[in-house]
Amino acid sequence: MGSVTSKENAEQPEYSGPVLFYNDTVVDHFVNPRNVGELTESETDGYGLVGDPSCGDQMKLWISVRSGRIEKIAFKSYGCPGAIATSSMLTDLARGRSVEDAKRITDDDVVEALGGIPERKKHCSLLGVMALQAAIKDWEAGRGLKKESGA
Ligand code: FES
Repeated sequence: MGSVTSKENAEQPEYSGPVLFYNDTVVDHFVNPRNVGELTESETDGYGLVGDPSCGDQMKLWISVRSGRIEKIAFKSYGCPGAIATSSMLTDLARGRSVEDAKRITDDDVVEALGGIPERKKHCSLLGVMALQAAIKDWEAGRGLKKESGA
């Protein structure tokens, strides 16, 4: 009773292949995401939390800023493969850049750096960019600026 026979297995729908095609770079960033985790309270100069209301995915992102440069960056994604891969690439693009430069990173830059992403998943690249913008705003709001000036 309750066991699955090979006949029952044979009646399961068969899929012919991946529903969406992700290139090797995207798969690499999804399987081995860079800069995953979170910064400690003392390291954190800016923090962003954003969500995509259309799918419910969320992104948390931390930055540490020294001399106007993003010295450390970390993220945690509660999202799909596209969100994880694009956020991973975004953190690679942002790390080491000046805050002013990092502000100009767009979702298109991230998708281009990954060598493309399925059309239906392009919106996923917005999550990381929005989280970075939120973390930079948080830093600008005074938290990091006070630290940098030694206040
Ligand atoms: Fe929600 Fe990808 S489906 S971020």
